[in-house]
Amino acid sequence: MSPERILITAGPTSEPVDAVRSITNRSSGRLGVALARAAIAAGHPTTLLLGPIAGPAPTAEPAAVDQTAEQAADQNSTRLAVHRFTTTAELQHTLAATWPDHDVLIMAAAVADFRPVPSPETKIRRSKDGFVLHLEPTPDLLAELASTTRPDQTLIGFALEPRAGLLDAAREKMTRKGVDAIVANPLETMDAEDIDARVLLAGGVVLSPGAMSKVEFAAWLIATLPRVRHVRGTR
Ligand code: CTP
Repeated sequence: MSPERILITAGPTSEPVDAVRSITNRSSGRLGVALARAAIAAGHPTTLLLGPIAGPAPTAEPAAVDQTAEQAADQNSTRLAVHRFTTTAELQHTLAATWPDHDVLIMAAAVADFRPVPSPETKIRRSKDGFVLHLEPTPDLLAELASTTRPDQTLIGFALEPRAGLLDAAREKMTRKGVDAIVANPLETMDAEDIDARVLLAGGVVLSPGAMSKVEFAAWLIATLPRVRHVRGTR
């Protein structure tokens, strides 16, 4: 069997408020980059869609993470492709173009749920009155993709939730988004060196690999893909 072609999204989106300001999510992108490296190491042709990594993150040098991913792309251009995105709309566009050519999507990106509208191309000036920022919801990219995903493709989402009720919230998200698996993480995972994830599969299976570094978890998740594909079937 030929290796699966893996598409990974990582990092935050950043939505412009005006020409100089934006709103974004806190995300280092480190887990997504680690997943891309693990996928390549396991022999999978891999595409990494990487958002604007903001720094400095307490546990890693974001520029170095970014640079290393780009360097890896240069060194092994036949195996790893890196595309950068900034906004949710850009990520949506790139996903639509790339997903049909892949077998597995691992959606680790921290996508904004809301974006400013309108977003003027000039700088909003200081005013003693202040101003009200209007936000519109962004499309749910994963749910959108799920509706057009082929039966031979596998979708893996992420859920970042308070530790209490983590599994219930992740289960609800898995159904709502129509994905084959959800990697559920407690909120404390943000900015942390380690990860203590639960992976929910179709049919109520919950995998608990235990606390480990993000690099170790990335290798574990890539090695677990055959099992995810084996038990999927919610779509
Ligand atoms: N996601 C997405 N499009 C969005 C928001 C999130 O595709 N507009 C994806 C994320 O990449 C992640 C999964 O959906 O894989 C869950 O994201 P999360 O932010 O935890 O969930 P939300 O859909 O934002 O739901 P809630 O606000 O209830 O947490």
